[in-house]
Amino acid sequence: MQSYLGGMAIRPILEVPDPRLKTVSTRVETFDDDLRTLVADMFETMYDAPGIGLAAIQIGVPKRVLVIDLQHEGEDGEPVRTPQVFINPEILDPSDEHTLYNEGCLSVPDQYAEVERPSTIRARWQDLDGKVHEEPMDGLMATCLQHEMDHLEGVLFIDHLSRLKRQMVLKKLEKLRKAA
Ligand code: NI
Repeated sequence: MQSYLGGMAIRPILEVPDPRLKTVSTRVETFDDDLRTLVADMFETMYDAPGIGLAAIQIGVPKRVLVIDLQHEGEDGEPVRTPQVFINPEILDPSDEHTLYNEGCLSVPDQYAEVERPSTIRARWQDLDGKVHEEPMDGLMATCLQHEMDHLEGVLFIDHLSRLKRQMVLKKLEKLRKAA
């Protein structure tokens, strides 16, 4: 990890087919200032992109750390930030019922595809102080957390698609890059 003088930093986001995205991330054992810097940088990078979730491996750090902010609309109609950090997250009790959601990913830019996942889960995770939390989740939060947790196993949303669909997405992405 780099060291930083001063504030937060926007870090480059890894994109397919970068092999580092297939890394299985390791558990966080030390809850220190380096972890706080990593999380602050992850939020900065995610908001800049912009995206609603980011896993540490997407900026090349193979640790089990996720940030999510689904935001909500404030009284004035402007989005209000609701940043959430998940360290060493686990999924408990995934429902038999599944939901389809049109997913995208900052590591597969501008590409979207429907992925089916359990509709509700219980999640257990640690916060920046190492304190354990457990909560039921549904809707977009359940989908987003499962998507981000896949990154910790080196899995992308396109890995849930058929081989044909996945190749179509990757080809489209390649075309877009060439045109850019
Ligand atoms: Ni993603």
